[in-house]
Amino acid sequence: MIHFRKASFQDVIQYFEWVNNPLVRIQSFNTNSISLAEHTKWFTKAINDNSKLMLIFSDNNITIGQVRVEISDENIAIIDISIDETQRGKGYASQLLQIATDEFLCINPQHKINAHIKRENITSVKSFLKAGFIIDKQNDNNNDTLLLSKTKTV
Ligand SMILES: CC(C)(COP(=O)(O)OP(=O)(O)OC[C@H]1O[C@@H](n2cnc3c(N)ncnc32)[C@H](O)[C@@H]1OP(=O)(O)O)[C@@H](O)C(=O)NCCC(=O)NCCS
Repeated sequence: MIHFRKASFQDVIQYFEWVNNPLVRIQSFNTNSISLAEHTKWFTKAINDNSKLMLIFSDNNITIGQVRVEISDENIAIIDISIDETQRGKGYASQLLQIATDEFLCINPQHKINAHIKRENITSVKSFLKAGFIIDKQNDNNNDTLLLSKTKTV
């Protein structure tokens, strides 16, 4: 059974490993790897920031991944997901996205959650669509990126 909790400082190294995972870097807009010092500074601030919902998920005590939903504007939030390399291809992504968006929209019902996804990241696009996101813009900042979004349904 899938469980989740808010990320805390004990997760700093787990998040560091995820952020520097080769596929995570390839699918990010900044593809450079991130130093431990830079990550620790960001993570310490992030877990104490009320505008960021950082959830870490496990299934039968095996850690599977993380979802972060971050308020960026008055009514806009941005979402990010990574699944541990050992747990990919098992259908977890859409389940985690569904749980995290339900949780976020319950607290922030007026917000629209945006996902900026590289068009080539088909696995990710499929996961977001399955979790109730719709394609909002075919060309987001450029031709390589899609904007998917989700709002609270009544
Ligand atoms: C993208 C990511 C979150 C997907 O997680 P996952 O749990 O492995 O995804 P799933 O196993 O649920 O697969 C999602 C869908 O893609 C499909 N899929 C998997 N590999 C595929 C491929 N090579 N081509 C086409 N479809 C593929 C799966 O069949 C599934 O579709 P279905 O539900 O209709 O069967 C994961 O690969 C990851 O962490 N990537 C790095 C970070 C990233 O890209 N984050 C997204 C940017 S916000």
